[in-house]
This record gives sequence, structure tokens and C-alpha cells, in this order.
Amino acid sequence: MKTGIVFCSEHHGNTRKLLNAVAEHYDIDLIKADIALFPGSGLHTTLSDYDLIGFASGIYYQKFHKDVLKYAEDFLPKGKNVFFIYTCGIERKCYTDSIIQIAKSKSSKILGTYSCPGYDTFGPFKLVGGISKGRPNDDDIQNAIKFYEFILKKCSEK
Ligand SMILES: Cc1cc2nc3c(=O)[nH]c(=O)nc-3n(C[C@H](O)[C@H](O)[C@H](O)COP(=O)(O)O)c2cc1C
Repeated sequence: MKTGIVFCSEHHGNTRKLLNAVAEHYDIDLIKADIALFPGSGLHTTLSDYDLIGFASGIYYQKFHKDVLKYAEDFLPKGKNVFFIYTCGIERKCYTDSIIQIAKSKSSKILGTYSCPGYDTFGPFKLVGGISKGRPNDDDIQNAIKFYEFILKKCSEK
């Protein structure tokens, strides 16, 4: 089972903390989404070799980072097993709407989503020292590993 996770974690590296922990336990390729910004360069990683593909991001303006969305739009092959991981300042269910829409347009099999709070100093939150301080914490990280185990099991049962 070959897994790749396309990610962007540019605010505080919150999402990256989850991914690093999962990648310490499992053989996973972590793929930076900004590589897709060089069209025609061939620098992007081909996703067709992966059995399982994750998209992971902080939330920016109620969506996954635009580079992650673009990577999915440009390079996600049809019919893949996919899952999503994100961190955000304040949880809202709509944050996965756009990435799910792209995945559905590629006939992906959506296996699940994991989210947790992430330290957020965007805009006015900076004035109060930020929100969701100390997140993701150890529990968030352990739960991300458990989530990946669940996804892996689900994928291999298919
Ligand atoms: C420009 C910008 C926009 C953001 N928009 C949202 C948002 O719409 N909803 C939310 O809950 N958090 C928002 N956040 C907070 C981030 O999603 C949160 O801090 C996340 O953990 C960042 O992940 P990262 O460090 O992996 O990039 C925003 C942060 C930035 C910098």
C-alpha cells in the first residue's frame, strides 16, 4: 500500500506536526503542494503510483490552501482512494466542501476526514495573542495517527 500526502502548512506548521507524527510511524511520502505552481516543469510528484492519497492543509478563508486545491485539480487521477486532514482556528463543517467537490469530480473514493484546532494568529486574533494556543497537542497528534490507521485498514479492506 503506497501512500502520498499532498500538503500545505504555512501559517504555523500546525498541520505539518500531525503529518510528521504519522510519517514517523508509517511509510508515507509527504508532498509539498507548492511544487504544482510551476506548470510544465514536471516537478510535481505523479500521484498515479499511489494506492492512497491524502490532502492536508491549514484552513485559509474557509478552504484548504489554494495550492492544495490546485494540486488536486491538476494532478489527482480518477478513481483514487483519498482522505483529508486539516487544522483550523475555529471548526466549521464547510471547510472540506471545495476539496470534496474536486475529489468527487475525479470519482475518488473518499475514506474520511480528520481535523483538530491549530494555533491561529490570523488578523484580529493576533491582537489577543492568538487562539487555539498549544494545538495541535499530544492528544490531537495521537488521534491523527489513529485516524491514519483506520483509513489504512479501510483502504486495504476494499
Ligand atoms: C490567511 C489565513 C486565513 C485563515 N482562515 C481561517 C478560516 O477561515 N477558518 C479557520 O478556522 N481558521 C483560519 N485560519 C487559521 C488556520 O487555519 C490555522 O491556524 C491552521 O492551524 C493553520 O495551519 P498551518 O499552520 O498548518 O498552516 C486562517 C489563517 C490564515 C493565516
